[in-house]
Amino acid sequence: MKFKDQIDVSRVPNHVAVIMDGNGRWAQTHGEMRIFGHLNGVSSVRETLSAAGEIGVKYLTLYAFSTENWDRPREEVAALMDLLVKTIVKEIDDLQENKVRLQAIGDLQLLPENCRKTLNQAIEKTKNNKRITLTLALSYSARWEITQAIRAIGEDVKNNKLQVEDINQVTIDSYLETHNIPDPELLIRTSGEKRISNFLLWQIAYSELYFTSVFWPDFKKEDFYEAIVAYQNRERRFGKISEQVSC
Ligand code: IPE
Ligand code: IPE
Ligand code: MG
Repeated sequence: MKFKDQIDVSRVPNHVAVIMDGNGRWAQTHGEMRIFGHLNGVSSVRETLSAAGEIGVKYLTLYAFSTENWDRPREEVAALMDLLVKTIVKEIDDLQENKVRLQAIGDLQLLPENCRKTLNQAIEKTKNNKRITLTLALSYSARWEITQAIRAIGEDVKNNKLQVEDINQVTIDSYLETHNIPDPELLIRTSGEKRISNFLLWQIAYSELYFTSVFWPDFKKEDFYEAIVAYQNRERRFGKISEQVSC
């Protein structure tokens, strides 16, 4: 039976986050340059977005470029930025047609001007779409995000807009880049690596983690559905005991 048919549609996660990893190694296995892997990763983004939309996932967050990725060879960074612009230009009509709202989180100031401009235009154009929110994490790292939040909280305390005793977890949520997105119930990482690589550290406190050895360019709809089925077979206890959560 297909994984899609095994999904309980009444228990689909609201938010799925994905660390799209393994493009370089995928290219290597095909005897190609790393960028060939990135190019082929685009179809997996399309498949994952469409798969998520089909089963009613409302938020999909994709880790596309980390703060640390700026330290890669200059040509690879340039090729990735170029690919980002070209992909947005190519996909914008489809995003609009499929009612996808595009967002971005991360230190977008660091993106090249043309990239930021194309991205902002697409965000503006799709802002009223309601079917699914696609958030691209670009020039993003969780420690950068948390540092920014702490600075902003400090400023507001200094300017008497916020009292120290009023700071709670909801306050912190509201200062993060993801303030308008619920925490992910499920985090997927492809390529066999079992680490978080500075992604959404605060938000994944209680996410289910799913690791697959499939390289990102090979990740297709059924791989996504397989992850959803695995998620649905987990028992989420949030610190309680089984009897408390299973009724
Ligand atoms: C993920 O694939 C894409 C980005 C991080 C931009 P990689 O480029 O990390 O591929 P591997 O992990 O080296 O195979
Ligand atoms: C994480 O992948 C970042 C993205 C997928 C954008 P990396 O390939 O950069 O992570 P590490 O270096 O293996 O931890
Ligand atoms: Mg990698």
